[in-house]
Amino acid sequence: MDKKKFYITTPIYYPSGKAHIGHSYCTVGSDAIARYKRMQGYDVMFLTGTDEHGQKIEQKAAEEGITPKEYVDKIVAGFQDLWKLLDISNDRFIRTTDDYHVKAVQKIFRTLYDKGEIYKGAYKGWYCTPCESFWTETQLKDHKCPDCGREVTWSEEEAYFFKLSNYADRLLKLYEEHPDFIQPESRKNEMIQFIKRGLEDLCVSRTSFTWGIPVDFDPKHVVYVWLDALTNYITALGYGSDDDSDYQKYWPADVHFVGKEIVRFHTIIWPAMLMALDLPLPKQVYGHGWLLFGDGTKMSKSKGNVVDPVILCERYGVDAIRYFLLREIPFGSDGNFTNEALISRINSDLANDLGNLVSRSTQMAQKYFGGVIPSERESAPIDEELIAMATALKAKCDEHVDHYQFSNALSEIWKLIARTNKYIDETTPWILGKDESQKPRLAAVLYNLCEVLRIISVLLTPFMPNTTPKIQAQLGISGDAVSYENSDKWGVLPADAVITKGEILFPRIDVDKEIAALVEIIGDTSGKANEEPKDEKKEEKQAAKKDSKPVEGVATLEQIAIDDFFKVDLRVAKILSCEPVKKSKKLLKLTLDDGAGTRTVASGISPYYQPEALIGKSVVLVANLKPAKLCGVESQGMILAASCGDDDVRVLFVDGMPAGSKIS
Ligand code: MSP
Repeated sequence: MDKKKFYITTPIYYPSGKAHIGHSYCTVGSDAIARYKRMQGYDVMFLTGTDEHGQKIEQKAAEEGITPKEYVDKIVAGFQDLWKLLDISNDRFIRTTDDYHVKAVQKIFRTLYDKGEIYKGAYKGWYCTPCESFWTETQLKDHKCPDCGREVTWSEEEAYFFKLSNYADRLLKLYEEHPDFIQPESRKNEMIQFIKRGLEDLCVSRTSFTWGIPVDFDPKHVVYVWLDALTNYITALGYGSDDDSDYQKYWPADVHFVGKEIVRFHTIIWPAMLMALDLPLPKQVYGHGWLLFGDGTKMSKSKGNVVDPVILCERYGVDAIRYFLLREIPFGSDGNFTNEALISRINSDLANDLGNLVSRSTQMAQKYFGGVIPSERESAPIDEELIAMATALKAKCDEHVDHYQFSNALSEIWKLIARTNKYIDETTPWILGKDESQKPRLAAVLYNLCEVLRIISVLLTPFMPNTTPKIQAQLGISGDAVSYENSDKWGVLPADAVITKGEILFPRIDVDKEIAALVEIIGDTSGKANEEPKDEKKEEKQAAKKDSKPVEGVATLEQIAIDDFFKVDLRVAKILSCEPVKKSKKLLKLTLDDGAGTRTVASGISPYYQPEALIGKSVVLVANLKPAKLCGVESQGMILAASCGDDDVRVLFVDGMPAGSKIS
């Protein structure tokens, strides 16, 4: 039987500057999905590439005194090297300067022209001659060019247009009939509003620069970028070339992963073009959020605040960076890159949780049984919960991966890691090891630990493909024992597997030293660099004054039993975004990562905190509080803060602790 196919794409990136961690974010996410689907038995096509034409690249090349092709060749090589370094398993890499793409785009342009979907008209607007750019009335600044501030003149340039305005109704119908076409849901409403405001025809050719694909029947025109760029998703499969068998096999795409800023192009222009060509439409466009610099600004080449992933991979290893990108920010939301968050993930999740579990388990198997766990094993009721959790993991990961929520899939894996570490503490193998009569029980405990590690190593592979083979080598397993099919079964680890203690997977990092080093290399990502210097003396004095005030109310409430306290589910949660609630002077609306997903909480701390200062902080969440509507915001919990005196409220920060950790 033919395998089911799965076609996934990243945007094709502009090689106008070096690849940075923002590009890596989308590519690593796509790679994890591609690998997971392959593991599930799909015939996967995973495409990425570069979008190489346009005026900006022409200008940059001119500044360096080289041809545009020489310019892009250099930068594209950097993208390709980075994908190799990050273990990206793309099946194809398209460059829009590739000959087959150029020819196919010319064919597509002509077809649309012959069908009357493209017509010749005039591009009108305010023109800045030095910048060679058209601007609309609203883009101008004080009626001058927004880029260089010089005078603009009203001009017209001959251009071809695609009849986008004809497609409004069909696009709205598409969204209605295929509610999952645009994900996450919130982005759909933006697109509907955009269409309802009225669609204009789209300029698809230019004559004011030459670095582009010539319109073959009117060569003073070059194809203007989005028609050139979007069609890559089909030309890469051979559409418009002699051999289009891959197009027949893989199109339509199952999902296009794109940043939220280009969802509009992918959900309006792209389907309209395909409708005009009478071709099938992609099944889904997923608009992911942005990786922000610690101060809350988008990381981008033009702002010069980009983080170089090569440096990070060299310092911490590829899988640590992949893990951070996939785990830290729920796909779909914006999130901060900070040096502190990165080091904290490496130390707590990788070195402490996963690394320790592997080294404790393999070390004990070696120490007590020379690496081969005896078949005579004595189980105990306490094993059952662990076994149930481990065998349920595959279904949970599948479910999250199906919704592209890799952060949640990893969170499930880490819940099992935490449970297993606790199982070691509960079963105390080091005590069992002292008593010969307990050997069968010790064998069962160690077998269970290694069996959990086997399951984890399989399901973690798409996310951390460098690390899991090392775990499997330490467990002495391969082949069927590490198959996806066996990752929800128990008792698969062969009796004769030879377990060895290998190298430390993730060495612990000295936080202070490393942060200082990173500030030198990358810059201060904490978002504090621009804060006003503090008058520490004054602060100390104020604190002393407040601390000396008599505190009322301590131990005056009715006493409660410990069980009452345990009814409160306190968790570490990380603030992903934060904004004032419009209708309220006191409330801030926080989006929190609670370890299992995201939730919204409204908190009355607006008078005491600037929203941006809270992003990236970890707080204490009352996770099982009944939701309540506060000034139009549904608050799903509460965060803890201390009243430190008149007009002084301080949130309890627990930075460095992983989101979802239980507090008791
Ligand atoms: N060339 C167009 C896309 C054409 S697709 C047919 C383009 N290129 S780009 O180089 O600007 O890359 C955009 C994509 O890179 C974003 O959509 C996003 O996937 C990724 N990112 C670039 N910077 C990013 C962040 N700071 N954060 C997350 N992703 C980022 O637009």
